[in-house]
Amino acid sequence: DDVIEIASTDGYLYLNGSLDRENKAIHRLQVEALNVMGEKVKGPYSITINVQDINDNPPKFEKSKYYGAVWQNSHPGSNIGTLHATDMDKKNTLNSRLQFRIVDQNPKIPLDSLFIIQQEAGTFQLSSSSLNKQVASTYSVTVEVTDKVFTTLCDVKINVIDINDQIPIFEKSDYGNCTILEDTPEGEVILEIQATDADEPFTGSSQIIYQIEEGDQNKNFIIETDPQTNRGFVKISKALDFEMSSTYNLTVKAINPEPLVKGVQYNSSSTAYFRVVVVDANEGPVFSKNTYIADIFEDVPVGTLVMTVTANDPEGDQIRYTLKNNKRNWLEIDTVSGKIYTAAPLDREVEHDYRVQVTATEENKKSQSSTAIFMIHIKDVNDNPPRLAKGNHLFFCHPLRGGVKAEIQATDDDEQLYPPEFTFSLGGSENIKSDWEISRTDGTHAYLSPKHTNLEEKQYSIPLIINDNGKPPLEGALNLQGTLHTQHLWY
Ligand SMILES: *[C@@H]1O[C@H](CO)[C@@H](O)[C@H](O)[C@H]1NC(C)=O
Ligand SMILES: *[C@@H]1O[C@H](CO)[C@@H](O)[C@H](O)[C@H]1NC(C)=O
Repeated sequence: DDVIEIASTDGYLYLNGSLDRENKAIHRLQVEALNVMGEKVKGPYSITINVQDINDNPPKFEKSKYYGAVWQNSHPGSNIGTLHATDMDKKNTLNSRLQFRIVDQNPKIPLDSLFIIQQEAGTFQLSSSSLNKQVASTYSVTVEVTDKVFTTLCDVKINVIDINDQIPIFEKSDYGNCTILEDTPEGEVILEIQATDADEPFTGSSQIIYQIEEGDQNKNFIIETDPQTNRGFVKISKALDFEMSSTYNLTVKAINPEPLVKGVQYNSSSTAYFRVVVVDANEGPVFSKNTYIADIFEDVPVGTLVMTVTANDPEGDQIRYTLKNNKRNWLEIDTVSGKIYTAAPLDREVEHDYRVQVTATEENKKSQSSTAIFMIHIKDVNDNPPRLAKGNHLFFCHPLRGGVKAEIQATDDDEQLYPPEFTFSLGGSENIKSDWEISRTDGTHAYLSPKHTNLEEKQYSIPLIINDNGKPPLEGALNLQGTLHTQHLWY
């Protein structure tokens, strides 16, 4: 122990420095008596020294600064918060017993002593009901804590919070008529309105929401508020339709997002009116469909009715129909009724999807028109006889040997839904049939062969008949050229 020293000769204990109870409250020493030889004569003895407290420590606040807030309509006695302070001196003695006191308040309006602090507990309270944010919105209060010897000061900042005791008030109650075109685009501002609220700016007590209370069943309008100015912008949120509704009587209420304090209510000053008058815009005719598709057989007679298209004008104007891009002039339209007829023989083998544009125009305003697609799927009819796929000229070597034959292949230009089944037969005289023979190998192929080897070296014209299995079945007749010639050596 370097604070307490024992004198080596007389046995007195001396204080060598200053004691600090808060640092070390108890000093324990072991003492022995030695002779001049340095040998222990007595002891060891334990000595305990208790350091008595004196009030030598100032109290300290837990925080250097306190912040609090209080609603402006709070009652006297309302708690705002509690201040805490500590003292290093001995607990549960007068040296560490602390007391709080308010020593100053700034500003001192509307009164001094707006607040009190519980002397022992440190509870900070409102003492009066005179708070008024419009008069003073913040207070700086100096609080003292003391242990009777030392005093420490602390600053307490109090914010007065507004309550929602003011309603929004419209600058005027009737904004009159607002006339707009039917085709005014969505999102366009059609009117600006303004209400003001005297509560604390930029809080839920003074922010304004404009609600359309009546007259907008279809939600065609929306009102957005500028958060800086509380100005309301009436916009179109859904396209207007003059033919459905030409005037809107709108009632708008201005409200706060926060509820009003008890006893205050919205009144008619928070409500305004305006009328939206919609002016008809001439709209073009509208087809019942964007694309019309009809199926039709290719063999229908000219003048067959294919389909009727209809377009309606929102204003009820008369409509006239025309066709465009009618490249092959296969169709025509009745300009008044919209009936579409075939105007020429159709041919699927030329074009199987025939597409035109049909236009509807207002009779009295030619610039108002609209267009739809009209398409016909032309369905196949077996209207093409079978034919040979390649040339009809067949060659045989003279003199003939037994068993020679030449292959032929048949085809057809109609739509082939199933594998074709052609049949082959020879026409012409009995002579032909006694000299030549046709034998089918599959649905599309057959062989032509001489029936004997005595044929002359010349060109024979052999009538061939091919039948298909279409509906109705068709027959193709043609002549095969069978040529017999000497085989040249230089082949
Ligand atoms: C709108 O109000 C006016 C008068 O303010 C009235 O003449 C009109 O009939 C009302 N219209 C509707 C749709 O309520
Ligand atoms: C509505 O209330 C406010 C006060 O909150 C008042 O100033 C105003 O005159 C009232 N308006 C009507 C129409 O009573």
